Amino acid sequence: MDTTLARISHLPAPEGDSFADSLLTGLRKAPKEISCKYFYDEAGSRLFDAICELPEYYQTRTETALLSRHAGEIAALMGQGVEILEFGAGSLRKVRILLDAAQDLRAYTPLDISGGYLGAVVRELAADYPALTLRPLVGDFTLPLDIPELPGAPRRAGFFPGSTIGNFKPDAAMALLRRMRGALNGGGLLIGVDLVKDPVRLHAAYNDSAGVTGQFNKNLMARANRELDADFDLDGFAHYAPYNANAHRIEMYLVSLKRQSVRLCGQQFDFLQGEAVHTEDSHKYTIESFREMACRAGFNPRAVWTDEDRLFAMHWLESR
Ligand code: AVI
Repeated sequence: MDTTLARISHLPAPEGDSFADSLLTGLRKAPKEISCKYFYDEAGSRLFDAICELPEYYQTRTETALLSRHAGEIAALMGQGVEILEFGAGSLRKVRILLDAAQDLRAYTPLDISGGYLGAVVRELAADYPALTLRPLVGDFTLPLDIPELPGAPRRAGFFPGSTIGNFKPDAAMALLRRMRGALNGGGLLIGVDLVKDPVRLHAAYNDSAGVTGQFNKNLMARANRELDADFDLDGFAHYAPYNANAHRIEMYLVSLKRQSVRLCGQQFDFLQGEAVHTEDSHKYTIESFREMACRAGFNPRAVWTDEDRLFAMHWLESR
């Protein structure tokens, strides 16, 4: 099977949207920030896979159980002969549940920003699903998308699991939902969303005892050292991830443990002792608050599934 990675075109062509440009811009801001989009190089994607296995990180196993429990119903809502289009495909593990349940699936199109990682996981999937039409695309789903139609223009069903929507500020999340709706050509979207819950449980999920989330957070700086010849001292920064209960979000930071300077692309950046670099927000929604946002983005919420402890929700949204 041909599993060659195609790079999709973005409209309009992104300007200044590289890790280096984003980092330079973010570190010049006050307060400083690094975009969470750059967590996911190959090392970061593997660290994220390790997070998904952590006992404290309930999201992955809860969502996977929901998918397994409701796969038949989901497949019926998606309909016959669809192309499943996964945004930010990652490890391609959860989609296997849908591939197994889908009715006469036309194709599976995983889209991911990390070409190296996508290539590796796509080869494994192709070996396990030899009859599947697989169209891996390397691209950034946060930018305007131009995904070419397959012959016969099958109906599309979007898949966006993992509550990645939570990593966007509410305005950006709505804009993203609108863009996805555009890319789906009238098809529906299956989306996983982490729910508002006990703050202690949320705090534990982002402050795991094995320190994997800390390594994942620091991978932003490790990546800059690898790719951009920067000289971040990884031991000079601490992972810090409090839950902001009123804003319904985890906020992630790298806090400088000392006064220090870092060289990056020929420029110097100074950090005060205790200065925090913002690296990620992870917004949590109630079922109602998410449905309201989906409606404003042009979807009709048609079904929702949640677990007994109401930790996580899967929504099926239809385009209006
Ligand atoms: C990918 N995303 C939904 C994860 C989250 O929970 O916000 C990223 C993550 N950050 C720290 N742990 C996991």
